[in-house]
Amino acid sequence: METIKPSQNSPIGIFDSGLGGLTVLKSLETILPNESFIYFGDTAHVPYGTKSAETVIRYSQHIMDFFQKHETKAVVIACNTASAVAFQHLQQLYNIPLFDVVTPSVEFAINHTKNKNIGVVGTFSTIYSNAYTKMFQKLGSGCNVKEIACPLFVPIIEEGWANTDIAENIAKTYLNEFQNINIDTLILGCTHYPIMVNTIQKVLSSQINLVYSGKTVGIKLKDYLKKQNYENSSLSSQPVKYFVTDFPQKFDELGSRFLGRQLNNVVHISII
Ligand code: DGL
Repeated sequence: METIKPSQNSPIGIFDSGLGGLTVLKSLETILPNESFIYFGDTAHVPYGTKSAETVIRYSQHIMDFFQKHETKAVVIACNTASAVAFQHLQQLYNIPLFDVVTPSVEFAINHTKNKNIGVVGTFSTIYSNAYTKMFQKLGSGCNVKEIACPLFVPIIEEGWANTDIAENIAKTYLNEFQNINIDTLILGCTHYPIMVNTIQKVLSSQINLVYSGKTVGIKLKDYLKKQNYENSSLSSQPVKYFVTDFPQKFDELGSRFLGRQLNNVVHISII
């Protein structure tokens, strides 16, 4: 397919390893109601959170190639794992405005913490990459950052058990260490975790500032589009187009749980 040059009325691409990024889409739709979106879920290769950086970079590159051919004016890497391990690499390769979810969440946390004790939760690969701690260091925050991998959260949420005793017990085991360092801010460094906030707040405290990547990247993108005079100028947005690389079991159930409504216009494509 020939590459088409995007314009200000072109859609914004959002990608994730699967359906979890729909939580980010939901926030972006609220923050940017006039924009149109294309959502790409790499459901054939999910999870990314257990895979090596090399593999996640390879998959992400195929997705970026797809967006480049589909006239997207900007791309949001909704997946925390891909943001943590592939963002810098993709930024060097593609001449398209690209937004990760790590940077805006770190900026948001720095601006909202009072005691400078910050917690980060994410998949194994996100936490193993140390991307959040490195970004706090880069932005010179002087924050005390503790990262904890919570690999069981994703399957628990996908099973529909986010707010059960099982989830609470597992959350207690993972999050126990945060109690010792008195965090006042917690970055939800995974697309799925907003679904589990009630349990997380029950285990930690309802007073903790929770940082949602969909919100932080949405604010950053909005600001960018405004400054660049690149906001959609047409009167209404187009319905979201969804592309997935596989139709997993429970696809509809999961999708509607993450998005809060049914998914329409879902197209299956094979890109890798
Ligand atoms: N989307 C992933 C993330 O935000 C979670 C699911 C996965 O492991 O692929 O890190």
